[in-house]
Amino acid sequence: MSTEKTLILVKPDGVRRQLVGEVISRIENKGYVITAMQMMQADRALLERHYTEHQGKPFFEPLVEFMMSGPIVAIVAEGNRVIEGFRSLAGVTDPTVAAPGTIRGDLARDQGTKVVQNIVHGSDSQESAAREIEIFFGK
Ligand code: RTP
Ligand code: MG
Repeated sequence: MSTEKTLILVKPDGVRRQLVGEVISRIENKGYVITAMQMMQADRALLERHYTEHQGKPFFEPLVEFMMSGPIVAIVAEGNRVIEGFRSLAGVTDPTVAAPGTIRGDLARDQGTKVVQNIVHGSDSQESAAREIEIFFGK
């Protein structure tokens, strides 16, 4: 059985609030293995590729601006069913209703901003994971 990979991002709100270690701990405590990690400043071209599915939506421009507002940490984590497993650790998109115990439920809330700020990104399918890992780490 081949081990699955996912792309995780600690978004600028998570880095600003010094939650990188907390996110890494939750990934590792669950038992997933971090196999690549890089702190970086994302530019518009990279984010337009990463969020291509959201182009044209009302929150797209605020999302890109937010994601460029400070450094992010890109992480590749591995393990069986890690894509589904990390989405479960992260909780649902809206931090107000994300379950307590999840990253978003425990660590984020509605800040009244144009776009939801929710600490982390996690790939949502094997296709997205392969595409996103290539964007952030190359082949
Ligand atoms: P992500 O891709 O970041 O892991 O989040 P997700 O799958 O839970 O949510 P998705 O629908 O892919 O949206 C990507 C990010 O865009 C922002 N967003 N804001 N209505 C809104 O204001 C809205 N909808 C989405 C969030 O930052 C979300 O994580
Ligand atoms: Mg998504």
